[in-house]
Amino acid sequence: MPALHPDIDRILIAEDQIQKRVAEIAAEIDRDYQEVDQVVLIGILKGAFIFTADLSRKMTVPHSVDFMAISSYGDLASSDGAVRLILDLRKPITNQHVIVVEDIVDTGHTMNYLYQTLMGRSPASLKTCTLFKKKRDSLDVPLDYIGFELPDVWVVGYGLDYADKHRTLPYVAALKKEVYS
Ligand code: IMP
Ligand code: MG
Repeated sequence: MPALHPDIDRILIAEDQIQKRVAEIAAEIDRDYQEVDQVVLIGILKGAFIFTADLSRKMTVPHSVDFMAISSYGDLASSDGAVRLILDLRKPITNQHVIVVEDIVDTGHTMNYLYQTLMGRSPASLKTCTLFKKKRDSLDVPLDYIGFELPDVWVVGYGLDYADKHRTLPYVAALKKEVYS
């Protein structure tokens, strides 16, 4: 096995575990949306681009994919709760069955912002999906599909970054504390 990058402390979730869980979530969504003709997956850039692509390819229910880009932290591993919309959807979601796809929920500020913003556009239904959730008291935002719970450390890989680095690692790893604190 190749040596880990020096910024990385340890691997938390291996590639095959991620792929297995993504397939399970896709199967759950397929079951829940059997009766629906069309779903809209909204991937949240940049962190959820890989998860959204893999989830979409594993889902069999008819769906389209759109993206929004959100910025909350800049390059820092700390949140003041301010969320900015950087890029909006191509198409309106009025009367559509929407699933928001996030990489990770930490404080919940980002998902809460997304939920409120998208609810304001009168979709037929709105569910939330996140691959990772940190184990802490999050804001009161409903999470319908959760991949894995993680300890409260900064993680990278499978789309997640630190200062735009490490996104393309196939696994999810904890950064060394001294790198981000
Ligand atoms: P929240 O608003 O505090 O819930 O943070 C959610 C957003 O912060 C996610 O969309 C991620 O982009 C980013 N984020 C939070 N924790 C991590 C992490 O450990 N690694 C990479 N990105 C993270
Ligand atoms: Mg990010």
